[in-house]
Amino acid sequence: MSVAGENLERAATILRRARSVVVFTGAGVSAESGVPTYRSGADGLWSVQNMERYANPDGYARHLPDSFAWYRARASGVRSVEPNAGHVAIARLAQLVPRVTVVTQNIDSLHQRAGSAEVIELHGHLRTARCAQCDARVEWQGAPDSACCVDCGGMLRPEVVMFREMLPPEAYSMAVERAAECDVLLSVGTSNQVFPAAEIPRIALEHGAWVFIVNPDMEGQPLHIRVLPLRGRAGEVLPALLDLAWPATG
Ligand code: OAD
Repeated sequence: MSVAGENLERAATILRRARSVVVFTGAGVSAESGVPTYRSGADGLWSVQNMERYANPDGYARHLPDSFAWYRARASGVRSVEPNAGHVAIARLAQLVPRVTVVTQNIDSLHQRAGSAEVIELHGHLRTARCAQCDARVEWQGAPDSACCVDCGGMLRPEVVMFREMLPPEAYSMAVERAAECDVLLSVGTSNQVFPAAEIPRIALEHGAWVFIVNPDMEGQPLHIRVLPLRGRAGEVLPALLDLAWPATG
């Protein structure tokens, strides 16, 4: 058997019949592009020190200007990499299934750059920074050197959701709606440990969908009769799954 073992055949048969698919992604889908994940691998972003400084609003404000520079470097880092075979397969899926919604926890915009049209960003993005005082937006590429808003002098911060902050309510409710009506949810490259985003696959299961988990590491993933683990890297498993489900379209 090839990547992901015998479950891949079963998953392909189910996917071929699906009318509505949600692709729920996390940092692992971008790992093969060279973007570090948060909790896995030697270069995981959330070391205790980074969590303290950059993952919550108080730490961010206390550690200026370093925290601003850290996000600027991340924004520039994700601009300098390319979508990988996993992102491309997800974009291709939208040509094959009537409704495909990408619900991502990622902030790197790689799904959009791969050609996915409908992308719900649950944790914001690294395209712009925002003034915490006057709400002005500035693209990271043209952002000032300091975290100081040129309009009002307020503090510039990344347009990402930090710990203890709410998810964008419209994005979250749209994601819940799509998860509740999909036939298949593909969970790709996420530890499925960070709530409330990690509710999304659980909502799909509660409403009778199949959930396929694409990940080289199944530790801590939801277990359920309708969960199919597809063990392996996104850039290998996803193209193989689509080729099996739609052999004539590869
Ligand atoms: P994590 O770093 O927690 O998990 C990454 C997952 O990707 C792990 O389960 C890895 O096994 C898996 N993985 C690694 N390489 C892979 C590959 N090539 N193909 C498929 N899977 C692979 O990242 P997330 O689950 O995305 O939130 O983390 C969720 C949220 O926690 C992030 O959005 C971020 C973080 O705090 C905020 O910053 C608000």
